[in-house]
Amino acid sequence: MPATYAETYAASSSDPEGFWLEAAASLAWDKKPTCAIDDSRAPIYSWYPDGMLNVSYNALDRHVLAGRGEATALVYDSAVLGIQQRFSYSQLLEQVATFAGVLRSQGVGQGDRVLIYLPMIPRAHIAMLACARIGAVHSVVFGGFAPKELAARIDDATPAAIVTATGGIEPSRRVEYLPAIAEAMVMATHQIPAVIVAHRDGFAHEPADYAGGTTAWHDWDQLAAGAEPVAAVPVPATHPLYILYTSGTTGAPKGVVRDSGGYAVAMDWSMRNIYGVGPGDTMLTASDVGWVVGHSYIVYGPLIAGATTVLYEGKPVGTPDAGAFWRLIDDHQVDVFFTAPTALRAIRKADPHAELLGNHDIGSLKALFVAGERLDPDTYEWACEKLGVPVIDNWWQTETGWPIASNPVGLELLERKPGSPTVPVPGYRVEIVDGFGASVPAGEEGNIVIKLPLPPGTLATLWGNDQRFIDTYLATFEGYYSTGDSGYLDADGYLFVMGRTDDVINVSGHRLSTGAMEQVLGAHPAVAECAVIGVADALKGQRPSGYVVLKSGSEISEDALGAELVAMVRREIGPVADFREVRIVEALPKTRSGKILRKTMRQIADGKPYSVPSTIEDPAVIQDLLPFLRPAG
Ligand code: COA
Ligand code: AMP
Repeated sequence: MPATYAETYAASSSDPEGFWLEAAASLAWDKKPTCAIDDSRAPIYSWYPDGMLNVSYNALDRHVLAGRGEATALVYDSAVLGIQQRFSYSQLLEQVATFAGVLRSQGVGQGDRVLIYLPMIPRAHIAMLACARIGAVHSVVFGGFAPKELAARIDDATPAAIVTATGGIEPSRRVEYLPAIAEAMVMATHQIPAVIVAHRDGFAHEPADYAGGTTAWHDWDQLAAGAEPVAAVPVPATHPLYILYTSGTTGAPKGVVRDSGGYAVAMDWSMRNIYGVGPGDTMLTASDVGWVVGHSYIVYGPLIAGATTVLYEGKPVGTPDAGAFWRLIDDHQVDVFFTAPTALRAIRKADPHAELLGNHDIGSLKALFVAGERLDPDTYEWACEKLGVPVIDNWWQTETGWPIASNPVGLELLERKPGSPTVPVPGYRVEIVDGFGASVPAGEEGNIVIKLPLPPGTLATLWGNDQRFIDTYLATFEGYYSTGDSGYLDADGYLFVMGRTDDVINVSGHRLSTGAMEQVLGAHPAVAECAVIGVADALKGQRPSGYVVLKSGSEISEDALGAELVAMVRREIGPVADFREVRIVEALPKTRSGKILRKTMRQIADGKPYSVPSTIEDPAVIQDLLPFLRPAG
């Protein structure tokens, strides 16, 4: 293998077939692939078309068979419960094989979908890997989503079972999961045969409360007591491993489909070459298993690499204080730590001089990686100064599953530039184009696109909808994947990601659709029309801000309407939407064809120079809006 970043990148570009075939060799295959890229259905590509493997086998059995069964696979650290628990590779394998037997006993087979709605507990790992073991396709839903969002995912994925727990623990409250699931099942059309519930103490609802309907509700432990462990089932490399729903411009979530072989190769390759993590190393990724970062670098990546992964149930601040991450690094001798910029900003706000670092020894730490949103230079400098290790921004998306741009620490630590996630990762041919698809010169901002085929591990399609996959990502610029982000490459080839070109916003590192929020607002009887925009926020990166025009004759105060709309968004999308701001305005600025000028509104709200398209219907509307949009002061 070539050693430097430049050589590796060149090899991946000039001979992707040879490069990715060689990369696949470090995994255990039931049938070794003889070719890497299948372009027979271009622009939809697939990877390792004749290979067979099992991802759970690669994450667990392979290491146990290599004599590393006693090595720690998983450390569970719950700040909300005050407990720590370790699982060796052998122990985790045993639990996964048994739960695979539980799934089988409920009639779940290869290709069936399983919806997983679990908090940050080891059973999330166990359920995901058990699905992979029998070739079932998991779809994990983040606990902060409301029943309606859950119902939309149930109807799209049509799962054969739901795996859940009695509840999740937020610092301020206990979140009962079972009523949410029952409500979602009433809203959904698809009938779920079985719900398997992991018991957690301190919750009001139990599976027995829901007995008697067409769905069988089971206790996880009772089923596991009588289950036969199951061996890993070889599946084609192209077999879907999971579906992960993400927000788009419309209210309907998109089911990103991940394959098995390509993803396993990407995880193995990225752990070594980007994160520099292997057997004997410990990685702490403080995200949630419900997000892509959690799938890749809490669950699959570290285990495929044979490393130790730390599963943290808690927050960066408040559980109990802003030293939580430093304690975790110290307690578990973490080598590589991964979090979101918003978490660093929350810590900095609570402990500006990082005084709580003084209580802990973080000498084991080699690097901090951040992703989920842009790492602003100010937070970057703060983290570098306080932690004294390389702080690495990496840019990617649910769709790609692993970094598009990063400083490839495992290959070579490149010079860092604040505000830049460094360079395109080998396999990703990143270009910047204007609205017509023409290349723009270095330093000039445009649409960030990636030349097809994307590398292994990236989305195979959208669940059940190849056409939507093509229309959403591949149709705008022929021969390219459109990332939906804008940015520029500088003269040294460093990428700078500036923001989304669509109506997706990023609140506290959580990707949300303003379109989905507008749909909720628009359903209120007093609302004639509305716009939700993402306004720059010093802590959260962005926060959603709603502007509504009342139906004529409606008499409701801004406070009363605001409270009702906030409650509606919380009920329909979930607390994760973090929607708290509503202003009543006389009119919304629109083009003559009726398109609301959200970008102009956002520019004004962010205090930036704003552009008003010549097609605006009534320029006076902008003037009237200025006092509502302009930041105070
Ligand atoms: N289940 C139920 N509710 C949840 C939840 C979950 N898993 N996660 C968050 N929520 C709720 C919160 O309790 C909060 O509810 P509230 O309105 O009643 O207070 C609401 O959703 C908003 O949560 P959040 O945006 O997380 O705000 P916070 O104040 O609780 O925490 C941060 C702020 C910065 C600490 C937190 O957002 C964070 O850690 N972000 C990092 C995100 C991340 O890791 N992203 C993945 C990319 S790497
Ligand atoms: P998600 O699919 O939730 O991971 O969100 C992906 C989106 O988050 C990207 O399209 C970007 O808009 C944004 N994003 C993620 N990581 C970064 C980063 N390192 N820098 C800038 N934006 C980022």
